[in-house]
Amino acid sequence: MHGVKLAKSSFICYNINMMHNNSLNLITKSRAVLAPLAGVADRAMRELCMEAGAAYCCSEMISAMGIYCGDRKSAQLMALNKAEQPCGIQLFGKEPHTFPCAVEAAMRNNPAFIDINMGCPAHKVAGHGSGAALMKTPELARAIIEETVNAVAGTVPVSVKIRVGWDEYSINCVEIAKIAEAAGVSWITVHGRTRKQMYAPPVDHDSIRAVKQAVRIPVVANGDVVDGPSARHMLDVTGCDGIMVGRGAMGAPWVFKRIAAYLHDGTVLPEPTPDERTAMMLRHVQLLCEYKSERHGMREARKHAAWYLKGMRGGAALRQRAVTITSYAELEEIAKELLS
Ligand SMILES: Cc1cc2nc3c(=O)[nH]c(=O)nc-3n(C[C@H](O)[C@H](O)[C@H](O)COP(=O)(O)O)c2cc1C
Repeated sequence: MHGVKLAKSSFICYNINMMHNNSLNLITKSRAVLAPLAGVADRAMRELCMEAGAAYCCSEMISAMGIYCGDRKSAQLMALNKAEQPCGIQLFGKEPHTFPCAVEAAMRNNPAFIDINMGCPAHKVAGHGSGAALMKTPELARAIIEETVNAVAGTVPVSVKIRVGWDEYSINCVEIAKIAEAAGVSWITVHGRTRKQMYAPPVDHDSIRAVKQAVRIPVVANGDVVDGPSARHMLDVTGCDGIMVGRGAMGAPWVFKRIAAYLHDGTVLPEPTPDERTAMMLRHVQLLCEYKSERHGMREARKHAAWYLKGMRGGAALRQRAVTITSYAELEEIAKELLS
């Protein structure tokens, strides 16, 4: 490359190719990625999922406007650990001019990529023009992607996470995916539901496959992947390059190990034993307390403990207790009773 003056178009092409290579390193057919999960997939959970074999993970969604306005809580959400790398930082918003500032702040935390949220259905986000509402405003979506890609300036890849459309009458994921590709994103994640569906079935595999067929960049398929067979099915019916797991990893970081084994050669690994489940729950809560202080960590721990206890013998009664715990010692007590 040295000494060769490239025409602008070939320079852009070169950069895009570099980004594609980056993204292909991150996405592999034999491993699943952890979905961004606000209020759930924080540093503690991301670390455990990466340890279990997730190909990459992503921060909770972070408001670009929040960062632009100097909000401390938004900035704190950007902190990443070495143990959770490769980890992206996900931004949401509807004001293109806030994205360069948010990207600059994000880059100080060494993310593996920047992701743009175009799928959040929550009223406080999509009701105000951000998240999934961007599916209804393709030109605004394009402007946000362009601002982000320009601000990142080729240092890390940019991806977008979209839904299939706003509702069943406005399925436009292919249009949005083509806009994103043209604007320079390195891959696209498609959650196979409309905004109207929120998280309800069914997952629209046909629309995910249509996106995969319409673009040249990698596509990650998302929606109801919870184990090896559902991962295999998603890859087979959509032809996608990777799969993303959200709720299937809640109280079950080991899902990534099980999916990888199944995709590799059809091996169905045994379910974790009660001892293993309990040990993982305690470790998860320990990390929460370490990263957030015991007082804050234990508040977060309640829902995670309840997920880990789901389906365990004697777990129902202990779950009732878990949702009010205030100290790590109380959780250890629950763990002891569980295994006695
Ligand atoms: C509690 C919760 C929080 C979520 N937070 C985010 C988020 O911050 N950013 C995002 O793009 N999607 C978010 N999602 C959507 C998930 O990333 C994923 O697309 C969705 O759960 C579908 O995947 P699943 O069927 O594997 O759960 C969230 C979902 C849940 C259930």
